[in-house]
Amino acid sequence: EPAPEALAEIIEAHTHLEGPLLPILHAMQEAFGFVPGTAVPVIAKALKLTRAEVHGVISFYHDFREAPAGRHTVKICRAEACQAVGGAALSEAVLSKLGIGWGETTPDGAVTVEPVYCLGLCACAPAAMVDGKVMGRADADRLTALAGEGAA
Ligand code: FES
Repeated sequence: EPAPEALAEIIEAHTHLEGPLLPILHAMQEAFGFVPGTAVPVIAKALKLTRAEVHGVISFYHDFREAPAGRHTVKICRAEACQAVGGAALSEAVLSKLGIGWGETTPDGAVTVEPVYCLGLCACAPAAMVDGKVMGRADADRLTALAGEGAA
């Protein structure tokens, strides 16, 4: 868990902004790789929001993680064009092979799977992204191969 001073410093650096919540959350994710649960009450207090409001924003934006990610991040497109051509089956296959749910990380810390909503690759759907690199016509084997690689 990040030190309280580190949280306070990030909050302080953004409170002068109009609408500081999103910049603070982005800065925390940048600094720690996720938005720590311990930050929620601190942010709420600083911005005079309720914890539920802060938490609502964190869970609304799919970009924010509430736990550290694995060594590899697989994002699978869940937007319409991809869903129409096997995106749902692809997600199901990947998640069941890895034995995790959306937003979760394999127990060995190798892979985190997250949803994404259109990668601009609709023409070669289903699309996915592995460690920031887009992949068209993604298949479950290629995506889950990372899990083995990570464990090795
Ligand atoms: Fe999946 Fe556009 S809908 S890349």
